[in-house]
Amino acid sequence: MSEKKTLNVSTLSKSFDDVSSLMQGIIDTPPEKIKTKELKHCISALENFKKYTDLLMDSCAYKNKSTINSGIEKYLPDLNNLQLELEVYYGGKNIKNLSQIKQLAEKIYDDYLLKVKYELIPYINSRMFSRKLITGVRIIDAQHKALFTFMDKFVSRVINESSNEDLEKVQRFLIKYTHIHFNEEEKLMEESGYPRKRAHKSEHKDFVDMIEKIDRFKEGGNESSIDEILRYIYFDLNQWFINHILKSDRDFVEFHKNRMGDED
Ligand SMILES: [Fe+2]
Ligand SMILES: [Fe+2]
Repeated sequence: MSEKKTLNVSTLSKSFDDVSSLMQGIIDTPPEKIKTKELKHCISALENFKKYTDLLMDSCAYKNKSTINSGIEKYLPDLNNLQLELEVYYGGKNIKNLSQIKQLAEKIYDDYLLKVKYELIPYINSRMFSRKLITGVRIIDAQHKALFTFMDKFVSRVINESSNEDLEKVQRFLIKYTHIHFNEEEKLMEESGYPRKRAHKSEHKDFVDMIEKIDRFKEGGNESSIDEILRYIYFDLNQWFINHILKSDRDFVEFHKNRMGDED
């Protein structure tokens, strides 16, 4: 059987970390101390990262490709020009717009890198996991899909700096829908007499507590709290949910299907 081409999110994430730390280096360095070599290195890492995200966006038919690309397409040519100017600068000539390098690096970071990290990577992740996550019980699968969509919605609202009111609306909906889903599963566990129901229910409770904890990040309302909230939703909530489906939900669904017969 020929090997199927798969999307490699962890490689993309690693490449993101590399570019991100190079960019951060440029942002943190005073303009007159930025070295041509560092900028060159940063630009070529950025160009490679762009090629890689392009490839991934094409292979998963990512719908917001132009939004992701616009950030980098706007700034990369300018950054390349500045690199040339910087070479001249180190060749002994002065340039007026040295501080533009830092400004552009900051813009690229905000407009492009963060979008890739919090929009594209979770999207590809959900595509990657979609097959593995299918349990075979139609209602459970539909509800899982909807919950991932709500989490994505939350992430994009945070990225677009929606009002707190708007965020609360999505959060309330997420909590409400999570209860609907967990109640549905617990009802099925009851019906089939699933023996590990108590442990499973307590995992559900943990997740509801985790969603409620989002409040503690919102209080700050500054940039670092936005970054923290995104990390929390993407790394903690999403990851918890994926693990729960792969282990606990699968276990109960298998039991349920054996007891009650396949639904689909
Ligand atoms: Fe579930
Ligand atoms: Fe569950």
